[in-house]
Formats: sequence, C-alpha cells, structure tokens
Amino acid sequence: MTFRKSTNDRARQAFALAVLSTLSLAAGAAIAAPDSITQKPFGTAPGGQKVSLYTLTNRSGMVVKITNYGGIVTSILVPDRNGKLGDVVLGYDNVAGYIKGSPYFGALVGRYANRIAKGKFTLNNKTYTLAVNNGVNHLHGGKIGFDKKVWMASPVRVSNGVGLSLNLHSADMEEGYPGNLAVHVVYSLTNDNALKIVYTATTDKATVLNLTNHSYFNLNGAGSGTVLDQTMMINASRYTPIDKTSIPFGLLAPVAGTPFDFRRPHAIGARINMANLQLKNGAGYDHNFVLNHTGNSLVLAARAYSPKTGRVLTVSTTEPGVQLYTGNFLDGTNIGKGGKAYNKRGAFCLETQHFPDSPNQKAFPTTTLRPGQVYRQTTIDKFSTR
Ligand code: BGC
Repeated sequence: MTFRKSTNDRARQAFALAVLSTLSLAAGAAIAAPDSITQKPFGTAPGGQKVSLYTLTNRSGMVVKITNYGGIVTSILVPDRNGKLGDVVLGYDNVAGYIKGSPYFGALVGRYANRIAKGKFTLNNKTYTLAVNNGVNHLHGGKIGFDKKVWMASPVRVSNGVGLSLNLHSADMEEGYPGNLAVHVVYSLTNDNALKIVYTATTDKATVLNLTNHSYFNLNGAGSGTVLDQTMMINASRYTPIDKTSIPFGLLAPVAGTPFDFRRPHAIGARINMANLQLKNGAGYDHNFVLNHTGNSLVLAARAYSPKTGRVLTVSTTEPGVQLYTGNFLDGTNIGKGGKAYNKRGAFCLETQHFPDSPNQKAFPTTTLRPGQVYRQTTIDKFSTR
C-alpha cells in the first residue's frame, strides 16, 4: 500500500479504512507494496480479548511488529552493513509468551516507569499507596501495568511512513494511582529507518506519570550472545546514583572519572565488572542518566553500535533522562522468538524517562500531571549502519 501525501482528516480516515479493508481481504497476508501495515491474530489476553500483531514495513524494507497487548514492540528487523535483515529486539512469538512472564520486553510501561520508593507518594496532601512488586519498591506501574493492558489500536497515516495509534483508558485509582487517565501513543515507522514514539496523556485529577518503552536491544540480533562488545555513547555528564534497592539518593552526580562516563563511546563491557559500589547496587548498569538537555526539545540521548554487524541505534528524546539497563537479571530462563534463550547481558535497554522516584524527590523534574495539562513525550530510535 503506497501512501499519498495528503494530510487532511478525510484522507487519513480513508487511508485507515483502506488499510482495514485490505486487511480483511488479505486475511493477514503481507501486502506486496513499498510500505504497508498488516494485521494478524496474536493470541488471547488473560481477560479473553483477542489481540493482534501489526506488521509495519517501510519503503526501505525495515519491519517493526507491534501488538496491542501492552503496546509491545515484538520485533524490529533492520539491515546490517551488508544489507541483511536481523531482528534486534528480544521478545516472544505469541502473546502467551508475554503473559507467562516477560521482564517488560518491548512494552509500553506506565503509569510510572521505574521505581517509586516503598510504593508511596504524597500529592496534594494525600498519600497514595501502590503495589510493592520489586523488593521493597513499586516498579513499572505495579501488578497490572500498561504493559499488560489491551490497547485500542488503529493504523494511521504519518508523514514519511506508516503508523499505529494506540489508546488506553486507565481508571481513577487503578493500581492505586489517582485520576482517570487517557493515554495515546503513536508508533511511526518512517522511511529513513526510524521508529518514532509519540506519547500524550491527560487526566481529570492530579496524578503522577512517567511513560517509556522498554525494548531490549541486541544489535547483533536477539538471542545471539551478550552486548558487552557493543559500544555505547550516552549524552549525559551526570547520573542519579542509587541505593541498594535501586532508589536514587536524590543527587545528580558527575559521571567524570566513573564507569558511568559514556560521553565518549566505548564497549558496554569495558567497565561493567569494575569494583564500584554503584555497579554493585545495580548488578551492572541499571541507572538513570541525566541528559545534557535544557528545556524539552528533542535531544540526542544515546548511540549504540555493533562492530560485528555495523548496526547503529541512535536514540533522541524530549525526556530529561534515560535508563541504561544491561539485562543484568536475564538468566537464560526466558526462551524467546525462535526458541532462543535470553542470557545475562544479552541486551541493553535505553528507557527514555523522567528520573526514578521523582514523586518523592523534590529536586527532580516534576512528574505531576494536572487536569488541563497535556503530558507529551517524543522518542526516536533511528537505525543506520557503518
Ligand atoms: C529496571 C530494572 C529491571 C528491568 C526489568 C528496568 O527498567 O531498572 O531494574 O530489572 O527494568 O524489569
């Protein structure tokens, strides 16, 4: 399906309908065309809802697969330096894999990505209690976070590519968070091999919000060994050191002279085993970096590179922080796509976000969203080779 350039609403609607009718005619078969979006069944959610897998293909042949269960990006197929496509994210072949137990592979995480200390925060003089699901802390939205919800999905026109729009209503006090929240996420696969994620949300009561996408990347291909030889650059002069339960102390510490200095690219594994209290607290890298960023414009966050395949991932974001997590808790028990085991350090995550535990940390940028305000985030994962 080739897209026309028109951007008015009617054209957008016509496009969505054309896609949908093609989908029902083609019954999930791939559409032989320069750029396309197809839909096929992906299984049944625990609540009995049938969920789908959407396959987005751009004009360069890059493919991104997304399910409306958890808004999960299940596959990203990008060329290596010889033009060979490889799947660079960890995930499962069907929804059952994600339900059985997934450490948030590829998911949309909310309401609060990362941790809230002891599962408590106070807003407008009222204390809210959340699920404690990670040691003594609250992690990634609680027991049934956005990663386990069935989102309403529809294909959309985007400039220079194909998109999938996802909507979720999160009810007042769901998982202990106040406010009816309307969340809207648009994934766009553009023809320059970028996956763009635009998040917006509104609430009817003051609440806290921190959304991210939790893709696990391995630029050599999912399930093909560790990422320790892949290089990383992070555009951050400071990071937020953590205690042994992974809650930030509240200070923004300089990376200079520490294993957290990724300002110049180097192998992820180069310093990961150094004797360092912070690396011990995170069991490796599992830390929030304070991006060199003023305001909320799009800024370069990180760049990863595989010397073996030549694949480069460049992440830009409007968020103030990025969590580098190096798959420290993967242990080979997650058997993913094509029966491949995902071992320790078999992936890295670059979770663009507000800082962990911000609702309890006065010095951190606020994560409070009030009625009348619009939460906005844009993150772009751009792929290239060299
Ligand atoms: C956290 C890790 C956690 C991982 C999977 C990351 O965002 O910081 O500690 O193990 O997500 O849940």
